[in-house]
Amino acid sequence: MIADHVLPVPLTIVDVRDYGKRIKVFDLAAQSGERLPAWQPGSHVDLSLPIGIRRSYSLVPSSSESVWRIGVLKEDDSRGASRWLHEQALVGDRVVAEDVRNNFDLHPAVDEVVFVAGGIGLTPFLSMLPAVDAARVPWQLHVAMAHTEELALLGDWGLRPEVHTYCDDRSQRMDIPRLTAALRPDQLLYVCGPARMLEAVRGLLPADPRVRFEAFGAEVSESETDTVIRIDCARSGVSVDVPAGRSVLAALRDIGVEVPSSCEEGVCGSCETAVLDGVPDHRDGILSSEEREAGETMMICVSRALTPYLTLDL
Ligand code: FES
Repeated sequence: MIADHVLPVPLTIVDVRDYGKRIKVFDLAAQSGERLPAWQPGSHVDLSLPIGIRRSYSLVPSSSESVWRIGVLKEDDSRGASRWLHEQALVGDRVVAEDVRNNFDLHPAVDEVVFVAGGIGLTPFLSMLPAVDAARVPWQLHVAMAHTEELALLGDWGLRPEVHTYCDDRSQRMDIPRLTAALRPDQLLYVCGPARMLEAVRGLLPADPRVRFEAFGAEVSESETDTVIRIDCARSGVSVDVPAGRSVLAALRDIGVEVPSSCEEGVCGSCETAVLDGVPDHRDGILSSEEREAGETMMICVSRALTPYLTLDL
């Protein structure tokens, strides 16, 4: 009998393929072979790896309801997740899917979508393209990669005229100022890639409601001007001072206030916390310009404050 699993679910690596030297694609299946929970375009899965690290990866369509597919970039990752997946993980190894979430859902009413991807940031779009294409919503995809062989991730989408590619090893550069300047009022722009790509778009289209972001490998920024923030927790009544160089999440943990977290790099959304007073200094790669402006929530694993204090709904 086929049954949907309830998360968390133990998975086995059933296939690994290389897409150039820096990207591997993993197929993961439930150990029983049963069907896995359904997920929405743009979703990612939080995986716990055997080395004690939990990280988020965008889900990529596979040909089977029993297989989840992820793409992993080999990066200089001090916490070692991509290193383990690239250098040690083998078919037969086990991981655990802890959660599936979507911070990057498709807007239901849109006339045209412009997708802009940098590197492994292409992966969420591989699940969104079938949805917009099936809905006959016009789209275009712009993909920047370091190496031409990484474009194989596109599969058959690479044959479509709506797809525009730019590769460093062909000395091609995506013209972000031109793309943002050409954005029409009836278009939505989805951007997924490294933090510097997101910052470039944010700088050109500040607080623009037509833009949706998701980051990979956010460069958690510390500033020399960071000072102590006092965090007041409204519900539990406790407070803590967060020094420069320490995250709000870690400081709260020290005093026994537990908040769910996963990536701790500002890219997964699991630590999102409501702000009741004070002004957050957003350093995540998830919130839209509108959400940043509103300041109603923040990712406490990376973001700090523009005020000397914050009151959080904790
Ligand atoms: S833990 Fe992932 S955004 Fe904070």
